[in-house]
Amino acid sequence: MTNYRGAPPPEDPPHRRSRLVIGNWKMNPAQLPEATALARAATGLGSAAVTVGVAPPAAWLIPVADSLRGSDVLLFGQDVHWEEKGAFTGQVSAPMLVGVANGTIVGHSEVRRDQGDDDARVARKAAAALRSGLRVVYCLGESLEERQRGETDAVIARQVREGLGAIEKDLLSALDGTWRLAVAYEPIWAIGSGVPASGAQVSEAIATLRAELGRVGVDGEAVSVLYGGSVSASSVAEFAGADGVDGALVGGASLKADEFAAIVRAFR
Ligand code: PGA
Repeated sequence: MTNYRGAPPPEDPPHRRSRLVIGNWKMNPAQLPEATALARAATGLGSAAVTVGVAPPAAWLIPVADSLRGSDVLLFGQDVHWEEKGAFTGQVSAPMLVGVANGTIVGHSEVRRDQGDDDARVARKAAAALRSGLRVVYCLGESLEERQRGETDAVIARQVREGLGAIEKDLLSALDGTWRLAVAYEPIWAIGSGVPASGAQVSEAIATLRAELGRVGVDGEAVSVLYGGSVSASSVAEFAGADGVDGALVGGASLKADEFAAIVRAFR
């Protein structure tokens, strides 16, 4: 397939589990020149060991795709609708993203919060994206209250069962050795708080996550799992070396080119 960049989408090396570092820019930056500069700064950061991606706001996707033309940086949407087209004001469909981006994030806690997405709806979004040939970064994670009540494992189990478990299995499996699905464990209390989870907390949650994937018929050992939540240049070593962590979904720190580069380097 030829994409908007006029070249086949970059393919990852055939690792069993890809190491990925993806910048989730959220509703930033405010000005387009900053967005294209940030995208250009991400080119050349990837290596045989780690794949780099960026997820700009929808309005910046096409100019950022232009800036990334011919590079090895993967481009992601931040969300996608489950329908292909129709009367869904403000939404972007998976077929619309195809040819512009390589994939999309779904299930981010800010989208769940602001748009009322539940696990079933996130599953429909992921399935639509996968069916269109997009890669999916599927976010899940518990709130502070849920962790304090000791419900972290139960929440992860529910999110896997009612979300990922509802997606046809053939859509979830790797295609020709290339990943189609990555899961981002993002405890809500760690996002944007400046207080990341500890490496031990993340490893424990990811072990639970992989076991739950197995219960819904997905080979958890074959799925890349990223950690997200206040990852910074100073905190990244905690996760880069933690058991089960294959990369990071980076919010605030991905808006600073130098800091994002340092985070990518930690996974090389
Ligand atoms: P943060 O965001 O790095 O700013 O905490 C991460 C995310 O929301 O994906």
